[in-house]
Amino acid sequence: MDTMAGLKRTHACNDLHKQQDGEEVVLCGWVARRRDHGGLIFIDLRDRSGIVQIVFSPDVNQEAFKKAETVRTEYVLCIRGRVGLRSAETVNMNVATGEVEVYGEELRILNQAKTPPFYIQDNIDVDELLRLKYRYLDLRRPEMQRNLILRHRVTKAMRDFFDKQGFLEIETPMLIKSTPEGARDYLVPSRVNPGKFFALPQSPQIFKQILMVAGMERYFQIARCFRDEDLRADRQPEFTQLDIEMSFIDREEILVMMENMIAQLFKEIMDIQIPTPFLRLSYEEAMNRYGSDKPDIRFGMELVDISEAVRGSDFKVFETVLRNGGQVKAINVKGYANIARRELDSLVDYVATYGAKGLAWICNTAEGIKSPITKFFSEEIIANIFSAAEVKEGDLLLMVADKPATVAAALGQLRLEMARRLDLIDPNKLSFLWVVDFPMFEYDEEEKRWIAMHHMFTSPRDEDIAYLNSDPGRVKAKAYDMILNGTEIGGGSIRIYNRDLQEKIFKTVGFSAEEAMDKFGYMLDAFEYGTPPHGGIAFGLDRMIMIMAKRSSIRDVIAFPKTQSATDVMSQAPSEVAPAQLKELSIKTDIVQKKTVHKQ
Ligand code: AMO
Ligand code: AMP
Repeated sequence: MDTMAGLKRTHACNDLHKQQDGEEVVLCGWVARRRDHGGLIFIDLRDRSGIVQIVFSPDVNQEAFKKAETVRTEYVLCIRGRVGLRSAETVNMNVATGEVEVYGEELRILNQAKTPPFYIQDNIDVDELLRLKYRYLDLRRPEMQRNLILRHRVTKAMRDFFDKQGFLEIETPMLIKSTPEGARDYLVPSRVNPGKFFALPQSPQIFKQILMVAGMERYFQIARCFRDEDLRADRQPEFTQLDIEMSFIDREEILVMMENMIAQLFKEIMDIQIPTPFLRLSYEEAMNRYGSDKPDIRFGMELVDISEAVRGSDFKVFETVLRNGGQVKAINVKGYANIARRELDSLVDYVATYGAKGLAWICNTAEGIKSPITKFFSEEIIANIFSAAEVKEGDLLLMVADKPATVAAALGQLRLEMARRLDLIDPNKLSFLWVVDFPMFEYDEEEKRWIAMHHMFTSPRDEDIAYLNSDPGRVKAKAYDMILNGTEIGGGSIRIYNRDLQEKIFKTVGFSAEEAMDKFGYMLDAFEYGTPPHGGIAFGLDRMIMIMAKRSSIRDVIAFPKTQSATDVMSQAPSEVAPAQLKELSIKTDIVQKKTVHKQ
């Protein structure tokens, strides 16, 4: 193998252009492609910046040409050569360096490579597990490099923004006390304290609040968080937050500052003007109009309450639901009245997965109304429905009757599904909004207790504190979420900063005084030493970058992500450990080892 001794890289591949005609350059990179062309060898040399074409000819340098013949894809090369202009007919305007090529005068093979298991290029159709196993090759692909470069630029811009606003970047510990925060904790055994465990932080929440008690006033951190929860395309067990906390502020100041941060980020990095202020919807309005607390407002098709319009009909299903305090709501799928019967049936199955007991439909076709239920309706009722939902000729009306939570879940998801099917979502649109005034608590039917909807450190609205004991369901929180294109990219709140109120909340969610002291005593104690009013927010960095990079999975914007089953297929983590390691940690597992079956 050759070395680089005596040669120094002068340019990145993508740096070369017409103006350098005749210049001597030294380039380093990987072989993207090699083509032999009647006495000439062309190598596309790729580095992080891009690709440039190198030409080897026996007329220029016989030795280099001979070596070029042995070169294969993904070999690592160093090339000294001279930049030249391509002839008019060989100019390739599809690549940035397409007007030039480099005539190779010296070729050094720095390393060889096995044949990669997939092509190192964009838009490959390869099983993701294979990409993850060979992540180092996957990350050589230009689109993956662009994602990581984007990620770097975003975090750099965030740091600059918060630095200018007087924030301090402060690290909080990774080994912390296990606290119930919503998801399951990842635990780390302590060797020095046998039988005791640290947890990895689900977020730096308590520490950032204690930093406010400590007088830091404005804190931020690009913080790794760990949550042992069921994974989806936009969730990882280990993910990154842009975490923020501020003292002496109110909700308004936080929302405005965060809008400005986002607008500046998109302007600086993507040259996109994001209009501010963002739309604000109360939780209630978001649920009513979109059936979701993270509505995608890039398209309409809002949920319409037709309970009053249908009241008093002969349709038993609707009447029973209304009598039991439920509601009937609808979405109007414009221009889709000619939907095939089979597709309608599939929609019924679709809403069933969200708990709906059925899906009623009216096709208002040019040939008249088609529907299994209009026979139960008077003309007046039909007119009322059409007027409430603005049904015109050609429209399809889809209706669900149930208790409000089920109607919201089923129609909210159906709305998204219909938009996907009808291609109503403009992929270039960026629709931001805030959802505010969340309920403080939601009732957990399984655990039979109230749980905090954001988290337990969120302040209830002042006017609702009186209902904490008598009617927790009525209490609204000073919490807010930032939504982008139907994804929750950030969430935060104004916090409680007084021990009594914090203790009341712990009590409402079912902690005894002892439990609260055991889990959060240090925080409650801190609150008694002069805690400033404070609040903050955390953004899901991976989710934000996923949307900026127009990807549908956060795994594509994380260098080394975990699979859907929370494993790393490259390093094969998690793995078993040596019995001696467990012994040292005073840990015994009760996994029954598979018995080896001995053949007789
Ligand atoms: P929350 O739990 O809402 O708030 O988290 C903040 C944001 O983090 C992102 N996020 C995730 N991203 C990827 N994978 C996950 N598993 C995952 N879970 C959450 C979301 C979410 O909006 N301490 C509070 C913030 C605060 O109150 O200041 C917190 O962690 O985009
Ligand atoms: P049924 O009388 O149960 O056969 O229902 C007649 C129509 O009403 C069918 O198209 C069902 O899918 C629909 N339907 C049944 N239950 C509901 C419901 N809760 N909400 C909306 N439509 C329903």
